[in-house]
Amino acid sequence: MINKESAKKRIIELRFLLHEHNYKYYVLSKPIISDFNYDTLLIELINLEKKFPEFADSNSPSVRVGNDKNLDFMQAKHSFPMLSLGNTYNEEELIDFDDRIRKIIKDKFHYVCELKFDGASINLKYENGKLIQATTRGDGSEGDVVTANIKTIKSIPLILQNKNFPEEFEIRGEIFMPHKSFEKLNKIRTEQNKTQFANPRNAASGSLKLKNSSELAKRELDCFLYYFISENLPTNSHFENLELCKNWGFKISEHTKRVDNINDVFEYINFWKTERKNLPYDIDGIVIKVDNIHFQDELGNTAKAPRWAISYKYKAERVLTQLLSVDFQVGRTGAITPVANLKAVHLAGTTVKRASLHNSDFIKNLNLHENDFVYIEKGGEIIPKIIEVEKNKRQDNSKPVEFTPSCPECNTLLNKIPDESIHYCPNTNNCPPQIKGKIEHFISRKAMDIGGGEATVELLYNNKLIKNIADLYYLEHSDLINLERFGKKSANNLLKSINESKATPLPKVLYAIGIRYVGETIAKILSKYFKTIDALIKASYEKLIEVDEIGEKIAESIISFFSADENIELINRLKEVGLQFEVETEEQNEQNLQNKKFVVTGNFGTSQRRKEIGELVEKFGGKKVSSVSKNTDFVIAGENPGGSKITKANKNNVPIINEAEFLEMIS
Ligand code: IVH
Repeated sequence: MINKESAKKRIIELRFLLHEHNYKYYVLSKPIISDFNYDTLLIELINLEKKFPEFADSNSPSVRVGNDKNLDFMQAKHSFPMLSLGNTYNEEELIDFDDRIRKIIKDKFHYVCELKFDGASINLKYENGKLIQATTRGDGSEGDVVTANIKTIKSIPLILQNKNFPEEFEIRGEIFMPHKSFEKLNKIRTEQNKTQFANPRNAASGSLKLKNSSELAKRELDCFLYYFISENLPTNSHFENLELCKNWGFKISEHTKRVDNINDVFEYINFWKTERKNLPYDIDGIVIKVDNIHFQDELGNTAKAPRWAISYKYKAERVLTQLLSVDFQVGRTGAITPVANLKAVHLAGTTVKRASLHNSDFIKNLNLHENDFVYIEKGGEIIPKIIEVEKNKRQDNSKPVEFTPSCPECNTLLNKIPDESIHYCPNTNNCPPQIKGKIEHFISRKAMDIGGGEATVELLYNNKLIKNIADLYYLEHSDLINLERFGKKSANNLLKSINESKATPLPKVLYAIGIRYVGETIAKILSKYFKTIDALIKASYEKLIEVDEIGEKIAESIISFFSADENIELINRLKEVGLQFEVETEEQNEQNLQNKKFVVTGNFGTSQRRKEIGELVEKFGGKKVSSVSKNTDFVIAGENPGGSKITKANKNNVPIINEAEFLEMIS
């Protein structure tokens, strides 16, 4: 039995971990652990909190059902909370569920087995046969109103068919993206140099939050409905109500099945355990519901989930396949990533041919040999992971996979930094992917914000028009006009934005030139301290580490960058064309809101704070206005912002930012 002291420590640790994962999953849509591991942590926390009620906390991850609220949308309260479902992973837990129910319900009853669709849940409200509102789950009691977006999903009826539906009702279901549409979308995104969605679930929930519903219409989302709610239910059976919903035009899964007892439930689970691979969309488990509505009411709900329903989750699917070869890819920073080429296999709806091997330590820990058979699994990422090697299938005399000693692009011998597991190609200024990577970084939004992206850099580089960042400023109209994809207009636009980038302030320029370890924050610190690039170039190692936040690693990297003649030459060429290598005066610096119009709305803790925010807007050269129009530049929203302000902002495409984002703007 765990003692009180260690229980407290573990509870705090678990809450921290779960809050982090919750944020990554629900807010960023970028989970880094599997659902199974997440649930294991959550169960451990719930159990510890039960045993040690003295450590209860109303903000513990165990009391909430996630949050996907997005300030850009209006919020609406759900008439009935959108609950979550309890999870089980094995037969014993399901038998417990069945026992609990049979203790309360003495009469015969049926279960309904359903697929657990892996997407984003939605609540649809109908009045007199018309769809009037669609809301996401949000925090369970209040969600985002996404009606316009939802109306673009073709399988959702806008007007019902036939008659005899209740005058008012709600129906809940799951928005999901079929595999085919998912692959198509990611293909287009790659062509447009946009990041890919990690999985169909993220693609579906990300799509719902698009501010432009016509964009969403192209995404081929789909929706299965699985929960009918009304004051006037047509029958006393969940299953029969769903059958009626089919007549009214709703898409109800044909795999929903009413069964007699828990053994039939196991049969359904086992059938879909393998059969789910043949579905054209993802499911992550099975949902089991008591069919009879009176019995459902009798069983009731806990704060988080109904007692009459539960989900059975499948563990992430893993398959065995063979390693064919290992490629070594060179990134923008010169870091080398090994990638396994695998014999193609089908895994969780997609064909897998490659898996990341991360670095040399990962290969060593796996003890990976040439032609090994390996188990692969899909986590939250697009590229699947190699979990382990099947040693029994290893060929005699197969050799361990060796890390390449030299760069696959330019043949330079690789360096390995002692405490890191990463190999680098040191030929920073002449290795093609590093050259292109540096230029892509330079033009990126957070750096010089020139626009273009990977494809433009590739085109200019392949046509020998640029081989470093300074070359961009020497491009001429006649260089561009003959390139494929470039018309007169796009050539002008590119040259115009290159020219405009000359006004970019020093912190961004310092970040843009790509000194290793000098990210946005360090660049700001350096420019504040040294004021000019010449002072930074001259700074000794001792002087550099005197600066707050600048450690040995960063100082060494800066010294090494400026001791290369070619980098100094690059800086000189950039100076020649007029880039900003000195900080602007203090006064100019304070005016970075440049007459932009701001509306401040909502609660910021105290009314004093709200006043202060208004004062900051003015201090930094912005204008505070009281109502939102198309001339407003930003809405700064606190908690419970004014509904009409948010609606108007959305209507006029005015960005809505929070306090932290505003402070970042003026920092
Ligand atoms: S019933 C009160 N049925 O799973 C009943 N949910 O983990 C609430 N889900 O939020 C839900 N397929 O987004 C139900 N056939 C199904 C489902 C399903 C997927 C999702 C839904 C819910 C989550 C709970």
